Amino acid sequence: AQMRVIIDTDPGIDDAIAILYALRQPEIDVAALTTVAGNIGLSVTTDNAGRIAALAGVALPVHPGAAAPLGRDPAPELGIHGQDGLGGVIFPDPLAAPSVTGAVSALAELLMTEPAGSIDLFCLAPLTNIALLLDTAPQAAARIRRIIAMGGAVDEPGNFRGTRAEFNLAHDPQAAARVLHAGLDLLLIPLDATRQLRADRAYLNQLRASHTAPAIACADLIEAYFTADAQTAESRPLHDPCVPLYALHPELFRVETRALQVDPETGALDPGPHPIKVAMGLGASGLRAALKTGLAC
Ligand code: RIB
Ligand code: CA
Repeated sequence: AQMRVIIDTDPGIDDAIAILYALRQPEIDVAALTTVAGNIGLSVTTDNAGRIAALAGVALPVHPGAAAPLGRDPAPELGIHGQDGLGGVIFPDPLAAPSVTGAVSALAELLMTEPAGSIDLFCLAPLTNIALLLDTAPQAAARIRRIIAMGGAVDEPGNFRGTRAEFNLAHDPQAAARVLHAGLDLLLIPLDATRQLRADRAYLNQLRASHTAPAIACADLIEAYFTADAQTAESRPLHDPCVPLYALHPELFRVETRALQVDPETGALDPGPHPIKVAMGLGASGLRAALKTGLAC
């Protein structure tokens, strides 16, 4: 049976790989993309979402969301994703302009018109849009089936400006606390798992050998996702692809429930009263095979 999904995203190199993979899986029916400021500003993440859908050959509504985190300024990561947010990889123009319906309105409308419990959220970015949905349309948020979100660092060090916090939670810590403390059916995939999923150059050659536009684009994206030091054998972690990969291959992840809380100032995860399902490990070779197959077929 298909799962119907809305992907909330800040593309972003790893977001792009996650979306290109998800759009090619028959088991996943992507209803819309909603965008948010994160890796880069909202205008760039929104334009990139349209370009990614165009490369996948899928006419998808793109609903622009929050241009800044709750109560603070955006903190883009141009050093990792480049000025264009896609590592300089050439993508086609979007097939259409972004929707005039904003992300939170679109989320609320879809959730209220589709059957309760029939929509999953794949969250690949700071959680600003989801927090705003909880605050402005709680009856719609209550109809979400489940959320699979990339974010956090449980036992691992963080990756946000030398802090203990991970970027998606640190960029909008207030939103992260709102969402993670709301008691939703949520599976968090933190750095503890995602840092185990990387790609080497041999893998890129395998992707290119499948000769599909998404596979070749993903090889180009990962190529741009190696650290500047040319000696590094493997890419940066494939964080966001873990979300759709979990949806289709949960058996390749090790999930625990931890009692946690999000520091609303820093986004760091600390011991606390909220039981949260967290993926603490994964089978990297199996997931790389699934990603390659899913991009090739
Ligand atoms: O910490 C990794 C997360 O931050 C990923 O979603 C990446 O795209 C960045 O947004
Ligand atoms: Ca992201």
